[in-house]
Amino acid sequence: MKIDLISILPEFFDSLDLSLIGRAQQDGLLEIRRHNLRDFTSDKHRSVDSPPAGGGAGMVMKPEPWALALEYVLAQPGENSVNQSATERPVLIIPTPSGELFTQQAAQELSEQTHLVFAPARFEGIDERFTDWASDLCEVRRLSIGDYVLNGGESAVVVMVEAITRLIPGVIGNEASLEEESHSDGLLEYPVYTKPAHWRGQQIPDVLLSGNHARIEAWRRSQAEERTQRIRPDLWERPQSC
Ligand code: ADE
Repeated sequence: MKIDLISILPEFFDSLDLSLIGRAQQDGLLEIRRHNLRDFTSDKHRSVDSPPAGGGAGMVMKPEPWALALEYVLAQPGENSVNQSATERPVLIIPTPSGELFTQQAAQELSEQTHLVFAPARFEGIDERFTDWASDLCEVRRLSIGDYVLNGGESAVVVMVEAITRLIPGVIGNEASLEEESHSDGLLEYPVYTKPAHWRGQQIPDVLLSGNHARIEAWRRSQAEERTQRIRPDLWERPQSC
């Protein structure tokens, strides 16, 4: 997968060079490229924002630097080891609190794509005409990571890139762990324990020491169900995948 990140703060993405995502890049499973939006401006102040048409507070990001940056990234070939499909449309992701909710299902869908471009805004957002123009070149998705407002979309990008890329086959060492974690089956994950069985006056549930895999699995399922009903009744009311 090829990922292009366009921002006025490209250093924000340095954490994506660490740990599993850093290793996936070294192994050629993933190519993450960062671009400074200000490199696509033409005035001496390298300005990317302007007052909102119609008045109001704050500043709006001008569409032209974004259009030039998008044209640039779409024209760049990927490195040899990163799969690219000539037919598949790239997906442009615009993080915004006014977008559809980014869920595990969205992460799964996006992990199956070959080229993602992220356009995180600062200020009051990007001139809407950029989104309309870009939809001729890409599939555009406006995504929110939750019902709260961040100072800019960069931290939302880090969250989304991590959630998406860990689902690419080969990125996580133990892929079985993906199947059992929270949200993979519509439920929150059951509680987990390790040895020793006694720790500071607390004991792990006896069933986990029974060696009976069917009983352990049934216990975990009932714990996951109980936890989901108690903590996230909104998820419990939605149809579950199994
Ligand atoms: N930008 C600001 N707040 C955001 C949010 N909640 N999700 C995605 N992008 C954002």
